[in-house]
Amino acid sequence: MSEDAKAEQVTHVLFEPLRIGALIARSRVIVPPHSSAVGNLWGSEAEAAQAVAYLQRRAEAGVAWTTMPGRVSNVLAPGFEPSGISAVVTGPFRYDDYVERMSRFVSAMHAAGALAATQLTMNGGYPHAPSARFAQPVNALAPHAISAKEIRLLLEEYRFSAARAAEAGIDIVELHMNHEDLSQQFLSPSINVRTDEYGGSLENRTRFAVSALTAAREQIGRGRALGVRMNAADPRFYSLEEGIEIAQRLAATGLVDYFHIVFGSTWGNPSYIQPHFFRPGQWSPLAARYKAELPLPVIYTGLVDSAERAAEIVAAGDADMVGMARAHIADPDVLAKAKRGASAEVRPCVGVNDCINRRYVDGLPFGCAVNPHATRELDGEWGRTRIHRRLLVVGGGPAGLETAALAAEAGATVTLYERAPEIGGQLLAASSAPSFGRYADYLGWQARRLARLGVRIELETEICPDSSELDSPDTTVVVATGARDRVPPIPGAGGPKVFTARDAMSGRVEGEEIALVVQDDHLAPFAIAEKLAVAGARITMFYATHVPGQLLGRYSIGSVLGRMDDLGVRIRIMEEVVEISEGSVHVRNVYSGRPDVVSGFHATVLACGGESESGLHESLSVGGRGEVYIVGDAYAPRRLVFATRQALAVARLLTDAAASGRHA
Ligand SMILES: Cc1cc2nc3c(=O)[nH]c(=O)nc-3n(C[C@H](O)[C@H](O)[C@H](O)COP(=O)(O)O)c2cc1C
Ligand code: SF4
Repeated sequence: MSEDAKAEQVTHVLFEPLRIGALIARSRVIVPPHSSAVGNLWGSEAEAAQAVAYLQRRAEAGVAWTTMPGRVSNVLAPGFEPSGISAVVTGPFRYDDYVERMSRFVSAMHAAGALAATQLTMNGGYPHAPSARFAQPVNALAPHAISAKEIRLLLEEYRFSAARAAEAGIDIVELHMNHEDLSQQFLSPSINVRTDEYGGSLENRTRFAVSALTAAREQIGRGRALGVRMNAADPRFYSLEEGIEIAQRLAATGLVDYFHIVFGSTWGNPSYIQPHFFRPGQWSPLAARYKAELPLPVIYTGLVDSAERAAEIVAAGDADMVGMARAHIADPDVLAKAKRGASAEVRPCVGVNDCINRRYVDGLPFGCAVNPHATRELDGEWGRTRIHRRLLVVGGGPAGLETAALAAEAGATVTLYERAPEIGGQLLAASSAPSFGRYADYLGWQARRLARLGVRIELETEICPDSSELDSPDTTVVVATGARDRVPPIPGAGGPKVFTARDAMSGRVEGEEIALVVQDDHLAPFAIAEKLAVAGARITMFYATHVPGQLLGRYSIGSVLGRMDDLGVRIRIMEEVVEISEGSVHVRNVYSGRPDVVSGFHATVLACGGESESGLHESLSVGGRGEVYIVGDAYAPRRLVFATRQALAVARLLTDAAASGRHA
């Protein structure tokens, strides 16, 4: 289909208005809840302004609504400290400035032509639950079984929260009956074993949700919409058929205006923020089953990566509307670009979940791997403040590509040199693993972007300190030379049957039994293991840590380890590799010191991260050459998100505004 025809289909399908209760949604795409991880409406004035600006920027591209999540306050024994994401004591609905802050969000959405939604979230499972049962097998923190009196008090909190949302002018209130929320836990006969009116029969198990919805509806009236977000199916809670029965029961109360169907848990495979191991929109057929059995509009959310995919889902009748969270983090204009036939310009999400993990695992501010502008919306569009320079970027990996593109977007004349025959660096190598193809999509997008911007790319050209390309003293140089594979100082690591990550990714490793020596806490070793295992090898990974992939976070690790198990990959933990010999790996338990020898390997691969290639930067700096910057792995090996964010930080330094002391 031509770009024009695709654009016409997107416009035709996605921009048809839809009635939701008493409201009219102007399009079929929403921005589902995610912004509590992105910004803080309840923080300082500046943080609140940024949190609103983030969603406003996304609303402006034509979505029907965006969602500012809300946590209902808990009812806990005085002094008890709940732990875990969302396990708040006092939620924002109880804040003194709730109405004032939330109405700023509402006004911004209305100004952008969109509706404003919030959620009633009660991730009660950590501090408390319907019964003293675990909602998941990987979290053994015993919950407090709530009493009938506590249930009554909690329901009053729902009532109070809905009233406050209405007071702030919110259009849509959504019950968060997914992601192991307390309201979802009540539904499960294996987790909820109560013998009172809230346990036992389906009528009893849905009583909490119905009571919360009743309380909310009484407060918001009929002029606002009330929805339910629920998991399509989850073996620990209910089957697909039981889920549909639950939805039908809720629909029959007449309280609900729409259902929002999602898939995945807070911990498993997939998590509800499904990583890149799955097909885009994979679970929309489950939403279709709900839609077929319900008299109300159904929204589907889960890995919808493009407006075209959203249009397909709606056109096929799987759902009436589609939610796209990460696609909007990666590119706020995903819908607008598709509408004008410019989908090739949409910055693709790579699905590695840094957006959720950076904050909760690394303890760093929010960041998107591909979109360094996310959370900088108040700065205005990038490129407003200009870069009047010639720029020479050395290295065509993620940091070099992003720096080159940003500088060119701001007006710089940029030449990029790459010594390999293709751009992409380590990302290109990783993209050859079967589940990592999204990296190739991202690199394709970067290549198109650079071509559009007129950046000159010289491939197979190595720049050395004395290269003539560096002769012009008024050219700013950005060194983005990346990292080589790190070879750890393990005896035998230089042996004949020992290979690097790049060897493995380029198909140079042979053998049925392969040992993977891992000294890298993120994804790369799993990409190597996947590539080799899919090619037919039996893989054993050796980790010195007590868990594999300790920087991956709970929204990704389940799918990663599930994939490894499917491929028969064995993972040994707490074993530091102390020697590699022909066919054997010698290990020592890192805590007890107990030695062991594991034999029978035809090859060993070192998945030990990178070692910075910083030589050019050092030479140019020492040589006193004009302005020289270093970005990405060349400085210290990290992940894509660090490279792109650093690229923006450096590009901002190059602007005229920075030169004159003002912010870019
Ligand atoms: C950073 C982040 C924060 C999220 N926070 C919430 C939340 O507060 N409530 C919720 O129901 N879902 C939350 N989600 C899940 C999203 O709404 C969505 O269901 C999920 O990301 C899958 O959709 P996508 O593939 O379009 O991103 C969050 C997702 C992300 C990435
Ligand atoms: S951080 Fe990664 S997963 Fe999250 S939106 Fe950005 S590209 Fe997508």
